[in-house]
Amino acid sequence: MLTADNHGKPNGVITCQHLSKYALIFLLLVLSVLICLLINMLNLENLSCHTASMLFQPQSSSHTAFAQKAPLPPYYNYTVCSHLEPTPEEALEDRYLLNSIAWPKAPTGPAPAPLIQSSDPVHSLFNLLPLKIQREWRVGDQLEALVQMHDFQGRPKRYGGDFLVARLHSPELGAGVAGRVVDHLNGSYLALFPLLWQGTAQVVITMVHSSEGVAVLQRLQEQRSDRVFFKSLFRSGKRSETTLCNMCLPPNQPKQPLCNYTDLHTGEPWYCLKPKMLSCDTRINHAKGGNKKNLITNKEALLLQSGVNIKVVIHASGPDRINVLPGKKDEIKNRSIIPEPVKYTPSGYYYQGSWRSFAGTTARKFNDSSSITQCLTGKVFHMYGDSTVRQWFEYLNALVPEIKEFNLHSPQRSGPFMAVDSNHNILLTYRCHGPPIRFGAVSTNELRYIANELDGLPGGADTVVAISIWSHFSTFPVEVYIRRMRHIRRALVRLLDRSPGTLVVIRSANLQVQNQEVSLYNSDWFSLQRDRVLRTMFMGLGVVFLDAWEMTLAHNLPHQLHPPPAIIKDMMDLILSHVCPTKKQKS
Ligand SMILES: *[C@@H]1O[C@H](CO)[C@@H](O)[C@H](O)[C@H]1NC(C)=O
Ligand SMILES: *[C@@H]1O[C@H](CO)[C@@H](O)[C@H](O)[C@H]1NC(C)=O
Ligand SMILES: *[C@@H]1O[C@H](CO)[C@@H](O)[C@H](O)[C@H]1NC(C)=O
Ligand SMILES: *[C@@H]1O[C@H](CO)[C@@H](O)[C@H](O)[C@H]1NC(C)=O
Ligand SMILES: *[C@@H]1O[C@H](CO)[C@@H](O)[C@H](O)[C@H]1NC(C)=O
Repeated sequence: MLTADNHGKPNGVITCQHLSKYALIFLLLVLSVLICLLINMLNLENLSCHTASMLFQPQSSSHTAFAQKAPLPPYYNYTVCSHLEPTPEEALEDRYLLNSIAWPKAPTGPAPAPLIQSSDPVHSLFNLLPLKIQREWRVGDQLEALVQMHDFQGRPKRYGGDFLVARLHSPELGAGVAGRVVDHLNGSYLALFPLLWQGTAQVVITMVHSSEGVAVLQRLQEQRSDRVFFKSLFRSGKRSETTLCNMCLPPNQPKQPLCNYTDLHTGEPWYCLKPKMLSCDTRINHAKGGNKKNLITNKEALLLQSGVNIKVVIHASGPDRINVLPGKKDEIKNRSIIPEPVKYTPSGYYYQGSWRSFAGTTARKFNDSSSITQCLTGKVFHMYGDSTVRQWFEYLNALVPEIKEFNLHSPQRSGPFMAVDSNHNILLTYRCHGPPIRFGAVSTNELRYIANELDGLPGGADTVVAISIWSHFSTFPVEVYIRRMRHIRRALVRLLDRSPGTLVVIRSANLQVQNQEVSLYNSDWFSLQRDRVLRTMFMGLGVVFLDAWEMTLAHNLPHQLHPPPAIIKDMMDLILSHVCPTKKQKS
């Protein structure tokens, strides 16, 4: 009742003079007391008089801000997060980034499409396009495959938006490279592959989601950013309580007062419902609460079925493999193996089972622990983020016997972790990123934002910093991710400014195994959006971009949230190659 009144006020009433504002507050206070008396008389629980009056003020002031600027993305409706409004420059970058990842909207409107009219990978086909000039494929050429999507009735699709991934590989040669898929927006797609090795090459095209399936995910992204929820334990003496927490709690949610844990340095928001008996500063930990269920209708569920329209391979109408001849001799001499700039250039490829990056540094191999020790001698290596960067800590810790983990008595998954080799003066650390980290209980005292951690680093030529932050943001609007990465970027710019020798590695998102359940919370489609944004935001910053997306797409092994050891080794070889470049490259 109170909330409805408040929302219904014309803008002028709230924005007018202080005098009338206070009068209004007073009036509402009186009203709320009356309402409370009434509620108490009716014996309703869970709403104290105190609560209702406390809630009034922040809501009214935030509505003032809303009234002036319309329309806002649905996320900003969450009144407790009103202070998140971006500055004009930030809003400009937001718009640019969001435009760059804009996904075609289904022409069928907001209602879920019938399965029978949605994209069916089994009915869909691709064919390899013939070369235009010469007869044979040679190293350095670009291979093109045209995909035509069909629905479950076998009719060709006439609009785009299907999420396809493409790969060219040769299991015999241990070779693989990610393709690029261009959406023609008319039901056909072009997949492009650089030819980088001599011998056989086979095209694999996979439909991750149909455009109709993506539409369901888009709806969740816009309407259900609460689909993963969080909790905190509060404790003081013998008393303890657990309450619900999130980045922004929806306006109709807080019938209870809130605890505001907004970070004072970055402004990153975080709220919990206030415990009934305890104060906000008795918060002990932060944890994932769980996944909300029943997010999609039965009709929507048909569009996201494992083995039917989630990650299903599309077959070729003709041959799906070619034989690649060596490039013309003087062409090879003149240009590196990288295709010309007009063509699609991946960030690297697999050959003979190991990753070859196109990004400058010659890849060295760090097969044995002594070569790693030699490389890391005198270094401090800080790893920040989710479990996909923790894998690097675990890899080094397991592989190098001289590096001993220091027992900090931390929880198994969330850390923080520290490992040292005091003979060689090597220090490794791992720390998880701040909320919305979805780990089990992280102690409040260990809950830090990466940007703040970076501000605490002196940095320098002996410091390596690796950051991986993506997966735990998949249930929030992309703006939330952009804001977080902006804070990290600012801190990195400060770090590289005061200590230009610091080596910074940014790891992108990777593909993972998908079924319906995983798709709703962690679909590769959500990861793709974040991956693209990340690339753009850290371009030209003087950091090493580790392309986990392409590495997991190009590899033969099945997709997993935590890439298998073979890929972790390739990632670590790449990082160590940057930490310890060959002599020639250094000069
Ligand atoms: C957010 O506000 C817009 C415009 O006022 C409204 O259309 C939309 O339904 C609101 N969304 C939510 C989630 O409240
Ligand atoms: C929470 O705290 C931040 C920082 O002090 C403040 O900007 C924000 O308005 C507060 N939120 C609410 C709902 O009061
Ligand atoms: C789809 O678009 C592509 C690129 O514009 C075009 O070459 C192709 O002919 C179109 N296909 C159909 C069926 O319209
Ligand atoms: C390769 O470079 C040489 C000398 O720079 C030039 O004469 C020749 O035309 C180049 N060949 C090709 C295929 O570009
Ligand atoms: C490292 O191991 C790979 C694969 O086992 C092998 O091909 C390569 O020659 C090794 N490199 C070095 C420097 O030992």
